[in-house]
Amino acid sequence: MRAARCVCIRQTRGMPKERVSDYGDAHASVYDRIYGDRFVPESAVTALATAAGADGRLLELGIGTGRLAIPLNDRGIRVEGIEASTAMIERLRSQVGGELIPVHQVDLADFELPNKGFDVAVCAVSTLFMLPGRLSQQSCMAATARHLRDRGLMFIEAFRPDPSRFDDDGNRVESRSDPYGTHVVRSHHDAVNRTIHITHELSDGPDVASFHVTLHYASCDELDQMAALAGLSLRERWHDWSGRPAGEDSSDPVSVYGTVHPK
Ligand SMILES: C[S@@+](CC[C@H](N)C(=O)[O-])C[C@H]1O[C@@H](n2cnc3c(N)ncnc32)[C@H](O)[C@@H]1O
Repeated sequence: MRAARCVCIRQTRGMPKERVSDYGDAHASVYDRIYGDRFVPESAVTALATAAGADGRLLELGIGTGRLAIPLNDRGIRVEGIEASTAMIERLRSQVGGELIPVHQVDLADFELPNKGFDVAVCAVSTLFMLPGRLSQQSCMAATARHLRDRGLMFIEAFRPDPSRFDDDGNRVESRSDPYGTHVVRSHHDAVNRTIHITHELSDGPDVASFHVTLHYASCDELDQMAALAGLSLRERWHDWSGRPAGEDSSDPVSVYGTVHPK
């Protein structure tokens, strides 16, 4: 099953036009190298499968290469995904189990799918912050709420902004080694615009390739406000996918929202 394709274009004044598929098209071939080890899916898959229940329906916002969706599908959860990028969808389809998962190629910022009534929706690894500001993030949450059944749940995994991680000029550089070579992550925090610009530099032998993403962050309180406007209320906030309650030290909390009014 595939919904009609959209080629959704955004333009910020003075900036080149940007398609919502740009990130995925650029990152599809290296996504699992960048994130595979950092966000191990097992506890997320267990938490989401438990919430969806046996034979439950789950919608993943920004399904990507299927890091979560494929193991969820393997556990019998009926997963559908939203994904803007053709390259990401092709990557998903190339993996065992990924070819069976329905993907709707629409913009997360607002969508209308044919079959609503999902038990669970999930927006993982700060994908919500890829949307360029409050209006589109809130609109995404509202669209998600419309697609959940009564007492359905929306899980948002999103980093908690922490300016102390950056130097006085707002910069941070991390270097990692992986089986292919070196992975350097350069981040710049723009406190005025509340964005973080991240460039991953991946070396593979003498070749270095760069991959860029801008994240428009929100605090947990702001997420809760957007959720309330979308008709969702906070049920729990976890430190991580283990379900332990979030605290001051939670860098990537998981917020669990439920529909407010019976539908
Ligand atoms: C950070 S990746 C997360 C992938 C996957 N959920 C995971 O946990 O590994 C974000 C995904 O969302 C997709 N995406 C970003 N913005 C989008 C938008 N506005 N509409 C639809 N998909 C979008 C990207 O192409 C990418 O595949």
